[in-house]
Amino acid sequence: MMSARLADAYNAQISLELASSHAYLQLAAYFADTSLTGFESWMRAQADEERMHALKFFDFVLDRGNQADLGAIDGPGEPPTSALEAFEIALAAERSVTESIRNLHAMAREENDAASYPLLEWFLTEQVEEEASVGEIVDQLRFADGNPAAVLMLDREHAGRAHVTPAE
Ligand SMILES: [Fe+2]
Ligand SMILES: [Fe+2]
Repeated sequence: MMSARLADAYNAQISLELASSHAYLQLAAYFADTSLTGFESWMRAQADEERMHALKFFDFVLDRGNQADLGAIDGPGEPPTSALEAFEIALAAERSVTESIRNLHAMAREENDAASYPLLEWFLTEQVEEEASVGEIVDQLRFADGNPAAVLMLDREHAGRAHVTPAE
């Protein structure tokens, strides 16, 4: 079993991943409203992926013999007013998730909980990829600078994203 302190931090992480899923789904709604269906599908796929992350932490807590005590899930913030703003919101959220996983890793080290390391290192690698892929779209939308033809082209380009990441 993990210490109560570490289990609490994992439970908070489950809620954070679910909040992240929730926020991506709200961003999908923004893109549905604006008929940018490629970005809508990108955001839906990301919402699914965040739910998978929550389940991965959930399973770990249960497998360790601790209790999964799910807390409240924060709602999404203010809706975006542009495609660029939507992806900037996503990038800021990913950076705070990364920070949270780094803190979990530091806590696991303090508690000498070596069983946590492979899981948290998987997540740290995942966060590098997510920040890079969201950051790339932010850069592309900055180049587009609100030009409708460029935004539409990027919408089409990002429509083809694979739906759900494999669990391991
Ligand atoms: Fe996540
Ligand atoms: Fe993420």
